[in-house]
Amino acid sequence: MAEQMLTDPAQGCAQIVIIGAGHSGVALAACLRTRGWNGGILLLEAEKEMPYERPPLSKELLKAGASDESTLLRKGRFYEDKRIDRIAGATVAAIDRQARTVLLSDGSRHSYHRLVIATGSRARALTVPGAGLPGIQALRTRDDALELKRLLVPAARVVIIGAGYIGLEVAAAAAAKGCDVTVLEFQDRVMSRVTSASVSRFFEQLHGRNGVRFVFGAAVTAVEGSQRAERIVTADGSVHPADVVLAGIGVVPNQELAEAAGLECRDGIHVDGDGLTSDPVIYAVGDVTRFMSTIDGASQRLECIQNALAQADRAAAHITGQDAGEPEIPWFWTVQQGIRLQTAGVRHPEDEVIVRGAPAEGKFSVVYLRNGCLAAVDTIGSLTDFRPAKKLIAHKARIDPLLAADPGTRLTDAVFAAA
Ligand code: APR
Repeated sequence: MAEQMLTDPAQGCAQIVIIGAGHSGVALAACLRTRGWNGGILLLEAEKEMPYERPPLSKELLKAGASDESTLLRKGRFYEDKRIDRIAGATVAAIDRQARTVLLSDGSRHSYHRLVIATGSRARALTVPGAGLPGIQALRTRDDALELKRLLVPAARVVIIGAGYIGLEVAAAAAAKGCDVTVLEFQDRVMSRVTSASVSRFFEQLHGRNGVRFVFGAAVTAVEGSQRAERIVTADGSVHPADVVLAGIGVVPNQELAEAAGLECRDGIHVDGDGLTSDPVIYAVGDVTRFMSTIDGASQRLECIQNALAQADRAAAHITGQDAGEPEIPWFWTVQQGIRLQTAGVRHPEDEVIVRGAPAEGKFSVVYLRNGCLAAVDTIGSLTDFRPAKKLIAHKARIDPLLAADPGTRLTDAVFAAA
């Protein structure tokens, strides 16, 4: 059926509506054209500016002297040239699945032949008493980043809640600007959601050498202040005075529209490998989705650009009746204090952990084995193990732990011959 659509002269009248112009929404529009979709494409976005990249918001954009110019996802006349209609500042209020239309909050309606929900995720809000006081920053949008940049001045007391990617990248930027930085983390180490203790320890020490203070096991119980957030209180009674407060406590999927339309959702909109939701003409792509891992069948929601782009291309392929090829292994990166952590695959807490190389030298890898097979690799300060890792993970290569522990042995040479 999809094949026919592509060659159907009526396709010129058919419109694909994409809700959300983040990485996945914009990529989807581009992929549709690359894959030969000739009909209409309408990109709806709540934010008013041109679609921009998010990774620089917590890195380059916060740096002293860095240009305020956002890195646009697509430059120049891309949207006009590709005949992608864009409505900026457009908030979708509802999806009418019967009528196959979306309703905008300004009352206008747009009909779709296929609908793609690419609404992404938003920063999780702190919910303790006082959390409603002004002055608690999140970092998700370009406006958030510009506001934070303005506040990071020398000697400012910056209290960061959450030692994940966002908290730590901001901690590095704030320390570099001469701020007094304290990170309050609920768990007993940094980045516990995404990596193992050895990598956490390395980054904790790296930040510590650059003047960042950590308080672990810190359960925030209240935010205090007269007009704005001035103090953060934790369960042990400690009080942390703050000129700037950043909450980097994770993200939640923007699934409300899909939920209200009766699509299957549970911490993410459920999609299959082609991005199809429980409605056969509605797709979802990017951070907002939940789907089965092709590696181990686990249900997952991935917060990474690689997944946003890969899902966009798979959905575009499905819409145009083409083969999307083999799924790619997900990968992630962060840069903190000038050191890059790049991860291939998704680690589980129960995986066997093997450290390759010496963390003290600032360049090492950590290999994660699940049932003897390579499941994920963290590379720190060097990408040597990254590229082979993606292939080996895809092939579920069985790894000899003794060989893998020797950094002199290439990862590809640590594969059991019988694999
Ligand atoms: N008090 C202290 N720490 C908390 C609290 C709390 N109330 N709630 C959560 N945390 C900690 C978590 O234990 C975790 O270590 O906040 C950290 C949040 O880390 P992430 O889940 O990685 O989220 P975040 O750093 O906000 O990044 C969100 O943005 O960079 C992108 O896509 C990337 O997934 C990433 C997303």
